[in-house]
Amino acid sequence: MIRMPDVITKKKNGKKLTNEEIDFVVRGYVEGQIPDYQMSAFLMAVCFCGMTKAEVSHLTKAMAASGDQVDLRTIPGFKADKHSTGGVGDKTTLIVAPLVASLGVKVAKMSGRGLGHTGGTIDKLESIPGFSTALSTDRFMKQVREIGIAIAGQTGNLVPADKKMYALRDVTSTVDSIPLIASSIMSKKLAAGSNGIVLDVKCGSGAFMKDRKSAVELARVMVDIGKAAGRKVSALVTDMDVPLGYAVGNSLEVLEAIETLSGRGPEDLRALCLELAAHMLSLAGQGSVDECRARAAEALDNKTALETFGKLIAAQGGDASVIKDPKKLPVAKFSKKLVSDVSGYVRRMDTEQVGIAASLLGAGRMTKEDVIDLGAGLVLQKKTGDRVEKGETLAVLYASEQGERMAAALDCLRKAYHFSEKKPKNQKLIYESVE
Ligand code: URA
Repeated sequence: MIRMPDVITKKKNGKKLTNEEIDFVVRGYVEGQIPDYQMSAFLMAVCFCGMTKAEVSHLTKAMAASGDQVDLRTIPGFKADKHSTGGVGDKTTLIVAPLVASLGVKVAKMSGRGLGHTGGTIDKLESIPGFSTALSTDRFMKQVREIGIAIAGQTGNLVPADKKMYALRDVTSTVDSIPLIASSIMSKKLAAGSNGIVLDVKCGSGAFMKDRKSAVELARVMVDIGKAAGRKVSALVTDMDVPLGYAVGNSLEVLEAIETLSGRGPEDLRALCLELAAHMLSLAGQGSVDECRARAAEALDNKTALETFGKLIAAQGGDASVIKDPKKLPVAKFSKKLVSDVSGYVRRMDTEQVGIAASLLGAGRMTKEDVIDLGAGLVLQKKTGDRVEKGETLAVLYASEQGERMAAALDCLRKAYHFSEKKPKNQKLIYESVE
């Protein structure tokens, strides 16, 4: 008989667990036979001793099987998913999902909400008047069949093991472990049922992984897990030392996404979206990454991707006229400029602080229960590498009240900017791809 204290001891001593032991831990924890204190000790042992490739793969499968799994087999065609490990100003799903759908790849996407300094796709979409992200399974499947795309919030019983484990990790200092992060993310991706998955692993001051070496390792582990489960997977390791695009905050990001889907938009955002879309199309068998990138660029420039975004909005009850008239998106009533008190170049940005400033304005939650202000946030005017003169605007901040929140956000954002006399070296946007 397997006993939890023995499993903890085995992992604490750096030994490899059997599949039966891993199943015992996941099942026992979800069903409530294993208490939080034993699970905490187990998670801490994993943090210190790691897991082999086979152990992480099995842990992921056991977690994915702990609740409902979406079966997309009745929907014809290649189903592709993408996942970002989280960042500031990362609105790529709003662009990439309709972009690949406009080119014939099916997108049946379950997305999350933002927490802490990072934003979430579901909150962003809900800033579109009328848009609903709570779709029944039947409606979700029907929509993917009919228009090739649906984006919904995660259903209640998708990977309950991760829900419970993540909440425990959050308060036991056991989040920053590659096997635990990889199994958490990949269990949700496997349960969501797509054939192909493109992972965007962020690294830098606004990301979960602050250094490139750990980001590459995380990417490698996640790609291996996906492949072992029979999925097509590739990962890009990309920069999050600087916010992506200029807008941070829900409706402001939708506005920037519409700009990008119209063939305009910030250069970095467009480039990353094209790269992610190219990898998704290539996994779907539409050609080499270079060929797919060119097709994706065409779909942005001739606005077919924008049209698909309009269809997605209408199908989910939203006001699709926002794609022609983005002024219909909510924008918070008060705005204030952050003005530079020095001249020089922006040497670097503390991107996590930029995310926190947007949260302080009301764009994010400090706790799960907070209600966010969908029209709040900030639009940067200057980013790393830009020349700034004293008195020039660095960013414009939007909030529904002028008092403490605005003052705290201004202070926080000012501290996020670091200046130098010399222009800093250009930083790469895409560090590498892991196939
Ligand atoms: N995102 C997840 O879903 N899980 C983690 O552990 C970290 C980031």
